[in-house]
Amino acid sequence: MAEHAEHAAYPVGLRLSGRRVVVLGGGQVAQRRLPSLVAAGADVLLISPSAKPSVEAMADTGEIRWERRRYASGDLADAWYALISTDDPEANEAASQEAEDRRVWCVRSDDAEAATAWTPATGRSEGVTVAVLTGRDPRRSAAVRDAIVEGLRDGTLAAPHHRARATGVALVGGGPGDPDLITVRGRRLLAEADVVIADRLGPRDLLAELPPHVEVIDAAKIPYGRFMAQEAINNALIEHARAGKSVVRLKGGDPYVFGRGMEELQVLAEAGIPCTVVPGISSSISVPSAAGIPVTHRGVAQEFTVVSGHVAPDDERSTVDWSALARLRGTVVVLMGVENSGAIAATLIAHGRDADTPVAVVQEGTTAAQRRVDATLGTLGETVRAEGVRPPAVIVIGDVVAVNPA
Ligand SMILES: C[S@@+](CC[C@H](N)C(=O)[O-])C[C@H]1O[C@@H](n2cnc3c(N)ncnc32)[C@H](O)[C@@H]1O
Repeated sequence: MAEHAEHAAYPVGLRLSGRRVVVLGGGQVAQRRLPSLVAAGADVLLISPSAKPSVEAMADTGEIRWERRRYASGDLADAWYALISTDDPEANEAASQEAEDRRVWCVRSDDAEAATAWTPATGRSEGVTVAVLTGRDPRRSAAVRDAIVEGLRDGTLAAPHHRARATGVALVGGGPGDPDLITVRGRRLLAEADVVIADRLGPRDLLAELPPHVEVIDAAKIPYGRFMAQEAINNALIEHARAGKSVVRLKGGDPYVFGRGMEELQVLAEAGIPCTVVPGISSSISVPSAAGIPVTHRGVAQEFTVVSGHVAPDDERSTVDWSALARLRGTVVVLMGVENSGAIAATLIAHGRDADTPVAVVQEGTTAAQRRVDATLGTLGETVRAEGVRPPAVIVIGDVVAVNPA
């Protein structure tokens, strides 16, 4: 229907075994589609005055029933699914209308817009059926299908057999949030997991792609909010690994950058559980980059320093030497610093950093909600407050913030 044309098709796997499928027209389309319908166990009725030799052969061997005649109204009476591809446009139109009236899903080779179903490009590899739809671009569908099937075959696409899976824990750095920014190894291990223990930060969209049997545990450590104790995370890691599960601990950025990766590794080592660590793209570099800020730039900054701002500079728990940082001329990247941004800026200024130093705060970098707010060291605290900047955000301090492509 024209008014629905902009909607994506809803993919589904039809279980046609023993169910009537009516095929109108015995030409090339039937020749291509019939083997799959037969393989699906469908009760295929072909209605066509003539047929390609290979189609005729299928009728001869009893794989399909063939009535040598033209389409007549009522032919779709018992059909669950219809494939319309005669060389008579009027017959196609009439059959299509009958399919609509009878609520029979129907594919049309002559008019994809008028069809109520589309045939995906399909392929099979080791028991996996791949079906690809791209709307009106069948060549692209076929190309994507080929890439997937080839990937499955040569192993470049992670799709392990359950029996072959490794157990233990993988600490996977998921990158800053964009699902495309996880490593190839991380993605493969995620695809192989039975249990995924995920942080709030990182590529959470990937969790939606996991098959239903995968248990996803939310280890969200939302700033200022809910907190699942590290001990509970450790226990879950150990418990599931001991149960013989393949466990992925999916972390934001890199596991070792303010990520407690080593703590978890130590706990697992103590428990005798094998663990592998997959590095990730840290937000400390990728988030500035996604906002157009190079953390170093020739002639501007020869160093960058990454610090945690989760405790204020005057807090006795802080181990950061803020006065030393203030004396550096390079870039300072502050993670977890939104709440203390004003105090951090004031401390750097008090120790000699110029109040006019450009600063950018990049919130939810690399995601659809990415937002960049610019300030100077002198205005940072007030700007963060006035603009309602919320974590997660990376604060970039230094002249690189003012470097532009043009
Ligand atoms: C607990 S630290 C973990 C850092 C992580 N291991 C990494 O390498 O990126 C969390 C902080 O990272 C920063 N962060 C992580 N992802 C971010 C994103 N997509 N946008 C902005 N900041 C992000 C924020 O400063 C946030 O408070």
